[in-house]
Amino acid sequence: MARTSFLQASSLLSSFLALTNAQASNSATPTKAGWSTTLNGTPTSFRSVFTIPASADVGADLIPNIQDPQAVNAQDLCPGYTASQLQQNDRGLSAVLTLAGKACNVYGNDIEALNLKVEYQSNDRLSINIRPANLDASNSSQWIIPESLIPRPAAESSAADLDLAFAWGNEPSFWFSVTRKSSGDVLFTTEGSHLVYENQFVEFVNSLPEDYNLYGLGERIHGLKLNNNFTATIYAADVGDPIDRNLYGSHPFYLETRYFEAGGHSNKTKRALKASELHQRSFGYEKGSSSGSPYKSVSHGVYYRNLHGMDVVLQPTSLTWRSLGGEIDLFFFAGETQPEVTKQYQTSAIGLPAMQSYWTFGFHQCRWGYRNWTELREIVETMRTFNIPMETIWLDIDYMDQYRDFTLDPVTFSPSGVADFFGWLHGNNQHFVPIVDGAIYIPNPQNASDAYDTYNRGNESGVFLKNPDGSQYIGAVWPGYTVFPDWLSSNGVSWWVKEMVEWYKEVPFSGFWVDMTEVSSFCVGSCGTGNVTLNPVHPPFSLPGEVGNIVFDYPEGFNITNVTEAASASAGDLAVHAVSPNATHANGVQEYDVHNVWGHQIINATYQGLLSVFPGKRPFIIGRSTFAGSGKWAGHWGGDNASKWAYMFFSIPQALSFSLFGIPMFGVDTCGFNGNTDAELCARWMQLSAFFPFYRNHNVLSAIPQEPYRWESVASASRSAMHIRYTLLPYMYTLFHQAHTTGSTVMRALAWEFPNEPQLAAVDTQFLLGPNILVTPVLEPQVDTVNGVFPGIVDGGSWYDWYTGERVNAEAGVNTTISAPLGHIPVFVRGGSVLPTQEPGYTTTESRSNPWGLIVALSDVGEASGSLYVDDGESLEPSETLDISFAAMKSQLKVEVTGGYKDNNTLGNVTILGVKGGCGQVQLNGATIDASKIDYNETSTVLKLSGLDDLTKGGAWQVAWTLSWA
Ligand SMILES: *[C@@H]1O[C@H](CO)[C@@H](O)[C@H](O)[C@H]1NC(C)=O
Ligand SMILES: *[C@@H]1O[C@H](CO)[C@@H](O)[C@H](O)[C@H]1NC(C)=O
Ligand SMILES: *[C@@H]1O[C@H](CO)[C@@H](O)[C@H](O)[C@H]1NC(C)=O
Ligand SMILES: *[C@@H]1O[C@H](CO)[C@@H](O)[C@H](O)[C@H]1NC(C)=O
Repeated sequence: MARTSFLQASSLLSSFLALTNAQASNSATPTKAGWSTTLNGTPTSFRSVFTIPASADVGADLIPNIQDPQAVNAQDLCPGYTASQLQQNDRGLSAVLTLAGKACNVYGNDIEALNLKVEYQSNDRLSINIRPANLDASNSSQWIIPESLIPRPAAESSAADLDLAFAWGNEPSFWFSVTRKSSGDVLFTTEGSHLVYENQFVEFVNSLPEDYNLYGLGERIHGLKLNNNFTATIYAADVGDPIDRNLYGSHPFYLETRYFEAGGHSNKTKRALKASELHQRSFGYEKGSSSGSPYKSVSHGVYYRNLHGMDVVLQPTSLTWRSLGGEIDLFFFAGETQPEVTKQYQTSAIGLPAMQSYWTFGFHQCRWGYRNWTELREIVETMRTFNIPMETIWLDIDYMDQYRDFTLDPVTFSPSGVADFFGWLHGNNQHFVPIVDGAIYIPNPQNASDAYDTYNRGNESGVFLKNPDGSQYIGAVWPGYTVFPDWLSSNGVSWWVKEMVEWYKEVPFSGFWVDMTEVSSFCVGSCGTGNVTLNPVHPPFSLPGEVGNIVFDYPEGFNITNVTEAASASAGDLAVHAVSPNATHANGVQEYDVHNVWGHQIINATYQGLLSVFPGKRPFIIGRSTFAGSGKWAGHWGGDNASKWAYMFFSIPQALSFSLFGIPMFGVDTCGFNGNTDAELCARWMQLSAFFPFYRNHNVLSAIPQEPYRWESVASASRSAMHIRYTLLPYMYTLFHQAHTTGSTVMRALAWEFPNEPQLAAVDTQFLLGPNILVTPVLEPQVDTVNGVFPGIVDGGSWYDWYTGERVNAEAGVNTTISAPLGHIPVFVRGGSVLPTQEPGYTTTESRSNPWGLIVALSDVGEASGSLYVDDGESLEPSETLDISFAAMKSQLKVEVTGGYKDNNTLGNVTILGVKGGCGQVQLNGATIDASKIDYNETSTVLKLSGLDDLTKGGAWQVAWTLSWA
């Protein structure tokens, strides 16, 4: 049949998915920047503009299928398939699946015949592909993803060691399963359900053990461990961080972890332990035990390579996968630990995360509402006045000329102010990153002075989305009626790259923040068709900051902490929408099929643009809408959260989920985006985010200012956490390099680093930065303690307090109450680790020229190890690098150095934690260190060596060295 018309497609879409969009018009808060009549010169203040009628932004009133009591269950009505014509070899099998009965045609038309192809692809990967046997583009909506868009993992030379086995049957209809060979554990099975394969509806159901531990299936605001009674919709949406609903990004991947009694592998029928069983057994070990956990975990991963809108219905013992089209293209990663699953997923399927430049790990300050170059400079200067490190100042859409990409407001951010501002900013080794939106303003053809060259060049190159009739698709975003780049068009990327290169000559940015990339449009369909002569027009809703509109409320507890600033509350409504499913790309591809990758593609185009602007340098991009694999080009921020304690908490599971998705460069709007923050929340949050890779404070227009210097308590909390962050920059950078080269993670869940402790399976109120830093933040108001666990103790592990260097006296598996007054974030160093440090400077450039240091945290048997990676901090392919390894045992630290990168910084301090029973002579390469440089405290067991610079002239890592303290 022919492709559905817009109305059919869109109603199918909305009615299948439990979409945020379908409900958001009554519940969402404003999602992003806009303009204000009260705060800056805007179109509304100098001429009256046509306002798009509110009705233009109201979609059809549809009940998502999942909530519709009338909706039929495809499982009850559809016949499933029968497999035949089986062909098998040692690398897999193929078969033909034919409809096992009368077509049910419940949400489209059943496809009569399908091809099944199973491949044992490598030693850790199995793939299962089911696609229509007759892929005729004219009568099928089963759009097949081009390899050039989303690569498909290919079979490797050997799969001899693959621990996964495929099985299938035809009773009652075709089903398939994946089993772990070594244990017999069934990881995935559709047995007992029917495969439903229609042109716009593909459903299969896999059974899971009770109390399953599942992670991923994003993007979503949810606890780290997915609960087993909700629908995970995957459909890119511009919406301000609603809980449990679909958001900006699409990551059809999950990690599943199962806990067994240790030694379970010898028992072929061992089943996973349920959470309830584990609980009854008090986790099987006594308080204080360090005799070894009786449990172990086994993890695997599943990636559904499909771009379509998708619902994953999580129920107590099953997942129902419903997609709006495409192939079933499943990849199973054998693990069998989380780090292995994540590495396998990244290295074979989606790509390793981009290496970031050193400067990107400095602190970023942003807000919507910085009004001119002067004010921007004042913000940067005030940060310095308060001695709060700041690396990069950002601008939201305020800088643009009437919200058009690649422009500057001629009055407030006048081009004549650029040279001064950037000469000064760059002279201080600081950076600037602007927001850039997905939509492109379409000028009013009847007004010559409205001409917009970026549009004209794109239009001439044919790079914008069309309607099915070939006319331009015209939606509406901040500037008025807009068009949208088609990244599948042959000139789309090169046009964007050229716009970036040209604009850089005017505005010397250091990176790009790409926003509204779902791609968002504020009206349904091509609403600007026939109305472009009205441009510029106002969006169909009031914007934050406009008179009589939104007054933001304050965080929980604000009335106690900051009575004088309390204000009344009411949130505005904002319908949220995207370009319609019938918008047409090059070669007739419909937005219906590729909606979820628009944001991924603009990230790719922007990556190419930055490579052209900065040849050979690492592009820095923060993108809003991401897809599996976006991490190889960009980082991500958590979107439009709110200044609420709950959102500060949710930043942790969101970050950990993005670790699984291969996007380690993650952070959220610190202190909260929507609404007013307060001193207490902002102080806690500035401290928490200091341990996230991407560290930025940002908020909405109209909310009170929230730069960290606005309150003394926030300023001092920020300084103290930033001191730790900047001290640890070499550690963070090394973690990133490891992520970039191996697929390891940067922010880690406790369960991943300590896989033998079932009680950690859902912990997301604490996290680890790499393997060795444990952060236990305060996540609620009006407390001065926090409860947290110290993982690993059951297996003989230990922790040291960051601040005192003393060994933590905690028991295994017990929630410990930790003192955490305002301004103090509990941070712990893992026994057995060596952390490379550097003395903090105001900027990362200064930090990078300061003396190095080491924190050697000895395990209970007196050992520790670690590593450090050093390069020039910015080259895509550095010509020289340094890899330094540290190994401590028997009161001796050995340092090995490989690589030719020249670093002249000396070694300043070495702090050794856990030095018991006194220390003898301290020697560096056999030369005795002067007693004046040694500070040993027998009670705290901390040995501090300082002033070592004399002994390491020319550079700490010039040659191998040994330090001894016996
Ligand atoms: C599942 O969620 C629904 C809707 O939130 C709720 O009504 C129902 O009680 C839940 N079921 C279980 C078993 O928790
Ligand atoms: C293996 O585990 C199953 C299920 O827990 C149990 O019934 C069986 O006795 C075990 N077999 C051995 C040999 O331990
Ligand atoms: C910049 O904006 C501030 C705040 O609106 C205003 O007080 C100041 O006059 C502006 N400065 C310039 C140079 O426009
Ligand atoms: C187009 O403009 C007319 C006024 O000229 C208005 O009545 C109509 O609602 C507009 N359509 C949309 C979708 O904005």
